Amino acid sequence: MKNSKGIIFDLDGVIVDTAKFHYLAWRKMANDLGFDITLEQNEQLKGVSRVHSLEQILGWGNKTVSESEFERLMTSKNEDYLARIAHMDEADLLPGVKKVLDYLTENNIPFALGSASKNARPILKGLDIEKRFTAIVDGNDVTKAKPNPEVFLIAAEKLGMAPEDCIVFEDSVAGVEAANVARMISIGIGDSERLKQADYNFADFTEIDIDFIEKILRK
Ligand code: BG6
Ligand code: MG
Repeated sequence: MKNSKGIIFDLDGVIVDTAKFHYLAWRKMANDLGFDITLEQNEQLKGVSRVHSLEQILGWGNKTVSESEFERLMTSKNEDYLARIAHMDEADLLPGVKKVLDYLTENNIPFALGSASKNARPILKGLDIEKRFTAIVDGNDVTKAKPNPEVFLIAAEKLGMAPEDCIVFEDSVAGVEAANVARMISIGIGDSERLKQADYNFADFTEIDIDFIEKILRK
């Protein structure tokens, strides 16, 4: 098949279920500061950069902290998070993801990562899929966080594709918005009501069959 589309995957919540570990680490930090965060609040943190997540959480807890304390909180949350995901391996790929990655690899269809995370490379390495990506664009490469489309626009450029020819898999509201702003095709993974701005919705990758992938690649 002639490939005229670029595929961009978000990481957390799309390829791997790290969202629960981000939540547990932020929740532990909030609890240490004397308040709690709910799963519902956590939904609003999906796709949101580390700095903005901390600002948001401190706002919920009505806390103001010094600059150095802010830095300390970010570092300790990240250390806690990394300890929670340290044993991740191929078995942690979310169900159905491997089938799609295998199809793309076998058919020489290049794909990129477009993630807010600064931990993306070690996570992909742990999952043993890092080398399969033509381009990896993550939180270390951008100055503007999702919903700004910067991360996806850089990924498109690295794939050599026009934004309109890119397809983005995203589990966050901010990420779907970023893809839409970039005029890419957005595919929401997760709750379809929450991600209703996406062009297509699936609960997870087990719902996505190869026929669908072929169809959007041809579109
Ligand atoms: C996003 C996650 O992919 O990356 C957010 O959905 C997270 O929850 C953000 O805050 C930044 O990740 P990290 O690994 O750099 O703290
Ligand atoms: Mg995500």
